[in-house]
Amino acid sequence: MSQITGKIIGLGSYFPPKTLTNDDLSKMVETNDEWITERTGIKSRHIADGIEDKSSTMAVKAAKEAVEDAGIDPKDIDLIVAASTSPDLVFPSIAVTVQEALGCTENVGCFDVNSACPGWLAAFNTVQGFIESGNSKLALVIGTETLSNYVDWTDRGTCILFGDGAGAAVLKAEEGKKNEIIMRSSGKRGVCLHCENRKQPKRYDEDDFEQSTYFYMAGRDVFRFAITEVPKLIKDLAAKYNFSLDDIDYFILHQANARIIESTAKKLNIGIEKFPMTLEQTGNTSSASIPALLNEMKKDGRLKKGMKLVFASFGGGLTWDANYIEY
Ligand code: ACO
Repeated sequence: MSQITGKIIGLGSYFPPKTLTNDDLSKMVETNDEWITERTGIKSRHIADGIEDKSSTMAVKAAKEAVEDAGIDPKDIDLIVAASTSPDLVFPSIAVTVQEALGCTENVGCFDVNSACPGWLAAFNTVQGFIESGNSKLALVIGTETLSNYVDWTDRGTCILFGDGAGAAVLKAEEGKKNEIIMRSSGKRGVCLHCENRKQPKRYDEDDFEQSTYFYMAGRDVFRFAITEVPKLIKDLAAKYNFSLDDIDYFILHQANARIIESTAKKLNIGIEKFPMTLEQTGNTSSASIPALLNEMKKDGRLKKGMKLVFASFGGGLTWDANYIEY
C-alpha cells in the first residue's frame, strides 16, 4: 500500500581505527584464528579508545556522514533517535549529543532506545511511526556501540565476538510502501544474554558482582534461539504482509555470526548471495550492524533505489524483530 513513509535517503557509518585481529586475541586468551573463523566468520574487529571514540562521539561521526550523503541541512531535521546498549553517558541521550554536534535547531525530538542488538530496528520502527503518522518529516536513526567496555577479556566464549562502531540513516517522509514490521520479545528467555549495570553500590560487596557487570552469554542457547526464531520470523513476516521471499533483493541480517546467517538462508531456501555480510572485519557491533552494512552496500553499488529489503535482528531481551521495506 502506498502512503507517506520514511525513505532512507542517506547513510553513514564509523569504526574506530584500532583493530584487534584473531591473532591478537590468541595472545590474550586460549584461542586461535582457525577456531574463531570457522565458528563465527569473524577475522577482526574495531576497538574504541574511549577518548576520541565513545558511543556518543561515534554516533556523531556516523550521523555526519549520513547527513552529508543525504545532502540535507541538519537544521531541517525534526527527530533524532539513537539506539545503544553501551552509552557513555547515562543521560543526556546520545541523540541530544548528535543534535548539538550537527548544529540542529531546538525543534527536534531527541531520545535513545535500548533493545540490545535489535536496537536500531526498534529505533527505525519508532521513527517510521512518527513519520507515517505525520509527526516527523526528516529524521536521523542511529545505532552506536562500545561493547568492548562490557566484554570480559578473559572469557574466550564472548570476547572474540564483539566490536565497536556506529551506523546512521536519514529518513525522509515521502510517498512509498509502508514499513511492515513484526517485533517479538521474551523476558523469560533473557537470562541467556545479559549484563548488569556497574553502578549499583548496594551490590559491591557481593562476590559475583564484578563478573555480573560483564557481558554474560550462554553461546549455544543464543545460537539455537537465533537459528530457530530468525527464519521463522522472516517466514511469518512474508505471510503476514503477503509477499514472496523470492522477490526480496537482500536480507539484511544482524551481523552476529556467519553460521547464523548461513543457517537462516538455508532454512528459507534462499541463496546465500542475498545475505550480505560485513562481520568478517567488524565482528558483532550490536545495534550498529544493520545501518553500517547498508552503508557499505550503498558505497559499493549493491544497494539501489526501489530494492525490496528484509531487515532482521535478534539479541538481548530476548528480542527479535523483522521489517520489510522498499529502499
Ligand atoms: N577458542 C577456542 N575454543 C573455544 C573458544 C574459543 N574462542 N570458545 C569456546 N571454545 C571451546 C569451548 O570451551 C568448548 O570446548 P569443550 O568442548 O572442550 O568444552 C568448545 O570450544 C565448543 O564450545 P561451544 O560454546 O559449544 O562452541 P560453539 O560452537 O557454540 O561456538 C559461539 C561458540 C561462537 C559463541 C556460538 O555459540 C555462537 O555464535 N553463539 C551465538 C552468539 C551470538 O550470536 N551472540 C550475539 C547475540 S545477540 C547480541 O548481539 C548481543
